[in-house]
Amino acid sequence: MATNTTQEQQSAAGRHQEVGHKSLLQSDALYQYILETSVYPREPEPMKELRELTAKHPWNLMTTSADEGQFLNMLLKLINAKNTMEIGVYTGYSLLATALALPDDGKILAMDINRENYELGLPVIRKAGVAHKIEFKEGPAMPVLDKLVEDEKNHGSYDFIFVDADKDNYLNYHKRLIELVKVGGLIGYDNTLWNGSVVAPPDAPLRKYVRYYRDFVLELNKALAVDPRIEICMLPVGDGITLCRRVK
Ligand SMILES: C[S@@+](CC[C@H](N)C(=O)[O-])C[C@H]1O[C@@H](n2cnc3c(N)ncnc32)[C@H](O)[C@@H]1O
Repeated sequence: MATNTTQEQQSAAGRHQEVGHKSLLQSDALYQYILETSVYPREPEPMKELRELTAKHPWNLMTTSADEGQFLNMLLKLINAKNTMEIGVYTGYSLLATALALPDDGKILAMDINRENYELGLPVIRKAGVAHKIEFKEGPAMPVLDKLVEDEKNHGSYDFIFVDADKDNYLNYHKRLIELVKVGGLIGYDNTLWNGSVVAPPDAPLRKYVRYYRDFVLELNKALAVDPRIEICMLPVGDGITLCRRVK
């Protein structure tokens, strides 16, 4: 019995070391503990509904995790965010976490190339009474950002920007977003630990998409670390989120 338990523990530890593991914590049990003790019992009903609806979708791997949703919600309240932006919506879990945190006259410019997935979550967002805070734009984010940057009055106008989309464009987004976020405001880049692959050896058996985007994530992390316009904090929440506070 004792041997079995030890073997199970060892094999769980081994599994955890596989590259591509979802949780960055010491064990699955520890992550489950966080979810069950402090996240699920406090998760607002609409977020639970959206999470369960999204779990049935074939691309559910893309959704923001419940603990990260809780973190974003708290963060937005702490900074009194009012004017925000999100790049990469999918079915809207992080969007709903944001919308619920903002005051009634708060705003989110939300962009995604896929409207269909957003529309799956939209009835839940409407039911939660926060849809009026969201302006959804279908299409690639870059041209929208270029347009915003063209107009001086948008400069320094965002309190918070969450980026959770095409990783190969994060550095290009950063060039524009740094103009749009206010001094003292935050940009959050998601997936900056990229399934743990940022520390994988070159011959590690990575899934194709993980391997493809890894170099872009590594390049982003290096660039953010030396960017004098921001202070940064990389958190092992979800798949890794780097918070960048604009200081100049
Ligand atoms: C990881 S998912 C976003 C997850 C979402 N934040 C959530 O809470 O469920 C990434 C999303 O980025 C979108 N995307 C990919 N390329 C994009 C682009 N160039 N512009 C805008 N959105 C894009 C995809 O369609 C996808 O829905």
